[in-house]
Amino acid sequence: MGRRKLVVGNWKMNGLRAQLGAAYAIDAIATQHPDAEVGLCIPATLLSEAKAGVKAIFIGAQDCHMNENGAHTGCLSAAMVKEAGASWVIVGHSERRGDQHESSADVAAKALAARAAGLKVILCLGESLETRDSGKASEFVLGQLSDSLPDGASADWLSIAYEPIWAIGTGRIPTMEQIAEIHGDIRGALRQALGAEQADAMRLLYGGSVNAANAREIFALEDVDGGLVGGASLKADSFGPIIEAAA
Ligand code: 13P
Repeated sequence: MGRRKLVVGNWKMNGLRAQLGAAYAIDAIATQHPDAEVGLCIPATLLSEAKAGVKAIFIGAQDCHMNENGAHTGCLSAAMVKEAGASWVIVGHSERRGDQHESSADVAAKALAARAAGLKVILCLGESLETRDSGKASEFVLGQLSDSLPDGASADWLSIAYEPIWAIGTGRIPTMEQIAEIHGDIRGALRQALGAEQADAMRLLYGGSVNAANAREIFALEDVDGGLVGGASLKADSFGPIIEAAA
């Protein structure tokens, strides 16, 4: 369908200024692979300096608030992270749905706020091991999708990441058949919700223990348009081969 591969690193709560060298090294690798779109979602404290130092990759944030401003101690609005240098933001990561008790309605509101501020959005979905083992992974993920999908969702600003919780940081990944099946189900649900043209243009990322050894096989699946990468995105040595696999 001509969807450009998208590979995004999520640094989570990792990274002081001393680690910016890794972002610059990753940027240098991405410069050599313009076929793939590459970005790093880094701690908000580093956005501005990182943005000033990169050429090929985009810099993104890992969350934003759903309100434009107000009495929300410790939170950052979409406009704030944009002004600091983010052009993308992740919403609905399972660590925030879990640790910060964010609902799918919150996630949809955050996506809309991000869009209104001019940010592109990666919306995350994913089931627990218990749900996977009960045979209800697809049903659960499609329910999350329908409850989190913002009004006016469109492929030019929204991408979806499927990240099974049990694969995050565990070194354990679903089988290629399981990834293909759930990505196909997500694409099918998007066709119902948004129509075929938007659904076929929207990028669907896989996340959860993506590494240099498995990226090529995962990215070759029909409905996988790239990856959202945690641990392996912290260093150019481990993220570089994943960029190459996408390109
Ligand atoms: P890992 O790649 O470390 O499993 O993390 C995946 C993730 O949560 C990216 O958002």
